Amino acid sequence: MLTVKKMISSSFIKPIVAVAALVFASASIADGSQSVELAQVSEGFNAEQKYMASCFACHSTGAAGAPKVGDGMAAEWEPRLEKGLDAVVANAINGINTMPAKGLCFDCTDDDLKALVEYMIETSQ
Ligand code: HEC
Repeated sequence: MLTVKKMISSSFIKPIVAVAALVFASASIADGSQSVELAQVSEGFNAEQKYMASCFACHSTGAAGAPKVGDGMAAEWEPRLEKGLDAVVANAINGINTMPAKGLCFDCTDDDLKALVEYMIETSQ
């Protein structure tokens, strides 16, 4: 029994170790460059493209009560922004009610999500 358990846990751990190694590797590459900034969107990040790929499906139509994005939709966002941009971004990261965590953009960093929220608010003026 014990060996079976061990096998399961080690095959579970392996991908995690691989991911950790990847993160470590990319971190050390970043260290080599001149400016290491913590608050940075992912390389090649494009808010409009990411929005279209991950958020548009719900936020263009207002599916499930999602605040709509687009021209003249500022009123959808005003009450939400009353709690402060950081809280709105945190809800995008963690999810809220039927809004899924990270808006289903699993390769988005927290900073990417913040940029996406800002993009959504800006395009709703
Ligand atoms: C499956 C549908 C769905 C997708 C995909 C989705 N959202 Fe949402 N989102 C919602 C719904 C529904 C709400 C309203 C939740 C509520 O307040 O009850 C919401 C609310 C929000 C809010 C407001 C949070 C607040 O504090 O009021 C933000 C910001 C947001 N989404 C960002 C995003 C971003 C960024 C993406 C893409 C990366 C995304 N959403 C993708 C459904 C979605």
